[in-house]
Amino acid sequence: MSRAARAVIDLSALRHNLQQVRRAAPQQQLIAVIKADAYGHGIVAVAQALADADVFGVACLEEALSLRAAGIDKSILLLEGFFHADELPLIRHHKLQIVVHDERQLDVLASLSPQACSIPAWLKVDTGMHRLGISPQAVPAAWQRLAACPAVAPLLGLMTHLANADDGDDGFTRKQLDCLASVRTDRSIPVSIANSAGILAWPASHGDVVRPGIMLYGVSPMLGECGAQRNLRPVMTLYSELISIRQCKKGDAVGYGGSWVCPEDMPVGVVAMGYGDGYPRHAPSGTPLLVNGRRAALIGRVSMDMICVDLRGQPGAAVGDPVTLWGNGLPAEEIAVCASTIAYALFCGVTCRVKKETIDG
Ligand SMILES: Cc1ncc(COP(=O)(O)O)c(C=O)c1O
Repeated sequence: MSRAARAVIDLSALRHNLQQVRRAAPQQQLIAVIKADAYGHGIVAVAQALADADVFGVACLEEALSLRAAGIDKSILLLEGFFHADELPLIRHHKLQIVVHDERQLDVLASLSPQACSIPAWLKVDTGMHRLGISPQAVPAAWQRLAACPAVAPLLGLMTHLANADDGDDGFTRKQLDCLASVRTDRSIPVSIANSAGILAWPASHGDVVRPGIMLYGVSPMLGECGAQRNLRPVMTLYSELISIRQCKKGDAVGYGGSWVCPEDMPVGVVAMGYGDGYPRHAPSGTPLLVNGRRAALIGRVSMDMICVDLRGQPGAAVGDPVTLWGNGLPAEEIAVCASTIAYALFCGVTCRVKKETIDG
């Protein structure tokens, strides 16, 4: 076996987390958000494991095509719709659903002639995030225009995205919900609002269709929480091994820049994991990792291929021993806080050098 860095993807944890979404939103349809290679977990393996989802949500045509090429025939929604008109023949051919968030997309759709296969579409409303979406006052006319497009059917409903739902006390979510309610003049029009944070903390956002992403991967979207507090299980565990152990002297500086200096004679381990694998470059000394399942602390700067670990308190540690960087026993949320980032970015940042292995159960 060569370099030990690997990400183990637990498909049973993924299915368990899907059940937690169903428990939290039992009446709703479920769009499993598997964009960005399923948040770095591997889009095809994740889609196959999430056969119980109603729809898959992806960011672009290429992601949808990779699912179709793998034989996945479930409904797929392009969460940003199409970027250029030349994508539309493939969108039709592969029976993809789209989100329409911009008047320019409406112009293109209005110019299409009807064909045997029409395009199902959500209309996205900007209820205050000011990222994608039609402004609330323009929604009635946009909805009429979309309904009149001969190539578009059915209209799936009104969609919006929550900006601050990860803070259960933030009143802005309530404003966004009120805004969407004000443009939904016909109560029979379905709505889709909730991301993971909406699902867990804002029942009023559940609407008709929920769109979980990060909670499927075992992470709590709520500020200051870990997934276990929501009965979620980590799906990705990032592992490597100790590749060297040095006995350093008091005063020895460890790693680039010598930013960490040994306070006493001590063993220092070297782990085959670095920013070239996606481990965050800004993780500071003190960031936890597990050596043989026991907590230890990162010391010194993260290098491209290696990190160093304080092995005081790990007397039996030996070269070849397993090291967990995040996942089982060490929440990715905790590492993300240390490195001033979010678990989403940790997962998406794991590079192709890291072997992905799936396990089930
Ligand atoms: C439109 C949309 N819906 C749902 C999600 C899922 O969000 P989360 O991963 O926070 O559940 C995303 C993710 O960014 C998104 O862009």
